[in-house]
Amino acid sequence: MAATDLERFSNAEPEPRSLSLGGHVGFDSLPDQLVSKSVTQGFSFNILCVGETGIGKSTLMNTLFNTTFETEEASHHEECVRLRPQTYDLQESNVHLKLTIVDAVGFGDQINKDERPIVDYIDAQFENYLQEELKIRRSLFDYQDTRVHVCLYFITPTGHSLKSLDLVTMKKLDSKVNIIPIIAKADTISKSELHKFKIKIMGELVSNGVQIYQFPTDDEAVAEINAVMNAHLPFAVVGSTEEVKVGNKLVRARQYPWGVVQVENENHCDFVKLREMLIRVNMEDLREQTHSRHYELYRRCKLEEMGFQDGDGDSQPFSLQETYEAKRKEFLSELQRKEEEMRQMFVNKVKETELELKEKERELHEKFEHLKRVHQEEKRKVEEKRRELEEETSAFNRRRAAVEALQSQALHATSQQPLRKDKDKKKASGWSSIYSVTIP
Ligand code: GTP
Ligand code: MG
Repeated sequence: MAATDLERFSNAEPEPRSLSLGGHVGFDSLPDQLVSKSVTQGFSFNILCVGETGIGKSTLMNTLFNTTFETEEASHHEECVRLRPQTYDLQESNVHLKLTIVDAVGFGDQINKDERPIVDYIDAQFENYLQEELKIRRSLFDYQDTRVHVCLYFITPTGHSLKSLDLVTMKKLDSKVNIIPIIAKADTISKSELHKFKIKIMGELVSNGVQIYQFPTDDEAVAEINAVMNAHLPFAVVGSTEEVKVGNKLVRARQYPWGVVQVENENHCDFVKLREMLIRVNMEDLREQTHSRHYELYRRCKLEEMGFQDGDGDSQPFSLQETYEAKRKEFLSELQRKEEEMRQMFVNKVKETELELKEKERELHEKFEHLKRVHQEEKRKVEEKRRELEEETSAFNRRRAAVEALQSQALHATSQQPLRKDKDKKKASGWSSIYSVTIP
């Protein structure tokens, strides 16, 4: 390729020229093609319901979609918060909707009121999508998207302020999902209290920096209605699948001894506003925001965590190969460092053990020497005692021999007594004096 061609290709793109057509070509049917393709493909929409047990989540879902989803009541004794997704195939006209309702079962009931399982669930859906995107052979076209498009946060109608659990949970979720706060069971709070409660909730959300979903005002067709509805947040809703006769019409309502609360009456509650905003006007925007804002943020953080980075603008284009090589080098050097650290630790440990063993050996030797000395001393004392005993024994033997000798002499003298009686009488005193002298 000639140098001039190269320069031409590498130069900035030229401004496109505007041409007028001589007749009908047909690309004005592109939007119709898009609609037709989307209708064939069908849509998916995933709603996460967060609110304490028995706040009216299932009833509201049934009321919103005008059907009965099979749900089981949650017990108040769940061990921890558990996410229960259930998917339904719905059809309206010729449009198919795969609707997934995810219930945060046990939320607000536990002593350990941890919102972690909800965050983990949302992240897990993003991760599944990211894994699909990173595959070499990916099939995003028919991928069953489970990413949460909206979180309906059910606020208990206390009339006071938001619970700290609500604030903490919404704060943790606001960067991951579009939050629409709703005041549940709004028929249990009076009109004036509800007005004050709404103002208080919005004030608290703003002062705690909680970002809730704002209905978009950039599309002219819906800007006005969305702007008005943003001012009505949080919606105060009533749910009921019970039909009550009002006038000559059957309407969904809750009947009380003092009157009837009509679900679809805008003077009674904001149910219609919620349905309009969630389903009829902004369902696509919620899906889009989930992809372009929340998923994008998750993807960026995840890739950065893995070491991938965009280049510095024009000079350094992003290269997967270079990033992979850099990450590999970093990993290998980290491995080497850890190996060296462990080797050093092992050597130190061996040295320490050697020193300990030497110290023990020295102590044992000292003990042995001491015992040896004690033993020698004992032996010496025993020897001395033995010598003394031997001396005493020989002295005793000598005395015994002397006594025996004297006794035999005395016997001998007694046997000669008749012959020398007088003489003996005189000497008798003399013997006794000899006894007393010779016997020691
Ligand atoms: P779990 O799934 O068990 O956590 O409950 P839930 O949040 O799905 O509540 P559910 O829809 O089962 O409703 C619980 C009770 O609240 C039922 O008796 C409903 O009739 C009642 N309920 C639901 N919505 C409303 C409401 O808007 N107002 C009043 N007053 N009661 C409601
Ligand atoms: Mg339920």
